[in-house]
Amino acid sequence: MQNPSARFAPPSEKGYAKHSRGEILAEIMTATMIERMRESCQMAAECLVAVGSIIRPGITTNEIDRFVHNFIVDRSAYPAPLNYKGFPKSVCTSVNEVVCHGIPEDRELKDGDIVNVDVTTLYPAKGGYYGDTSVTFYVGKPSEEAIHLVEVTRECLEVGISVVKHGARVGDIGAAIQEVAEKAGCSVVRDYVGHGVGRVFHTDPQIPHYGRAGTGKRLKAGMVFTIEPMINLGHYATELLSDGWTAVTADRSLSAQFEHTILVTRDGAEVLTARPELVPNCEDVPWAKLHPRSCPAAFRS
Ligand code: MF3
Ligand code: CO
Ligand code: CO
Repeated sequence: MQNPSARFAPPSEKGYAKHSRGEILAEIMTATMIERMRESCQMAAECLVAVGSIIRPGITTNEIDRFVHNFIVDRSAYPAPLNYKGFPKSVCTSVNEVVCHGIPEDRELKDGDIVNVDVTTLYPAKGGYYGDTSVTFYVGKPSEEAIHLVEVTRECLEVGISVVKHGARVGDIGAAIQEVAEKAGCSVVRDYVGHGVGRVFHTDPQIPHYGRAGTGKRLKAGMVFTIEPMINLGHYATELLSDGWTAVTADRSLSAQFEHTILVTRDGAEVLTARPELVPNCEDVPWAKLHPRSCPAAFRS
């Protein structure tokens, strides 16, 4: 059964401290909170590894949805997208020109497609924390263009993480990402940003993936947020389809995305959604440019 909404009521965002403009305040997490956050994030990370093993030409995005739904529910957690502001499925699957929030459907993936799978867990048994992470998979044999875009996007997430530390500014992250993307001839999506995450799915601070170094809020140790650059081969403009969710590139060029949930520390960042193993059809390909911080498994001997 795909949508057991009686058992899986989406959580309420009532009762949290809010800004005057209604945004929910980010929390500075204690060691105990961070430990719980890690458990939810690790489940999401393990889910992506498992998804990688079923990616192949011919699979439908609905099959990916069912797999993710069962993976999370089997571990007594809740797939956060399901019923979130009316989203109808348990995971976002964004194919080719889809920038984000693609709705799983019965169309089959074909050889040469790229697909971002964005998993968010909510773990009630461990304090009710969210873990949010995504990768872009290669379906079968990719074009040179697809490889260029996906590897640049992977690099963008990595460089964004590398500038995070206590005292740095939000704008440092966007500036670092924008420079890598634009030097590679790609563009950074403006219409969707990273976000604070914890006991609420989306809180402040907003984390744009473009901007100027030395501007924006200061990062503080104990803050947790996502970095999730969406990078396009063409122009950065997006368009929302009539389903109210699916964002596509306005020029229908290819778009890719990678996402991690990040903890700010005194001297850097901890990647809470770092994976225990290489992700099949994403990180095990010879052209993947992997980094130790977000992909420790690749560097363990
Ligand atoms: N996981 C997405 C993010 O990174 C949000 C998905 S919301 C949904 O913020 F409703 F589209 F699922
Ligand atoms: Co996110
Ligand atoms: Co996400």
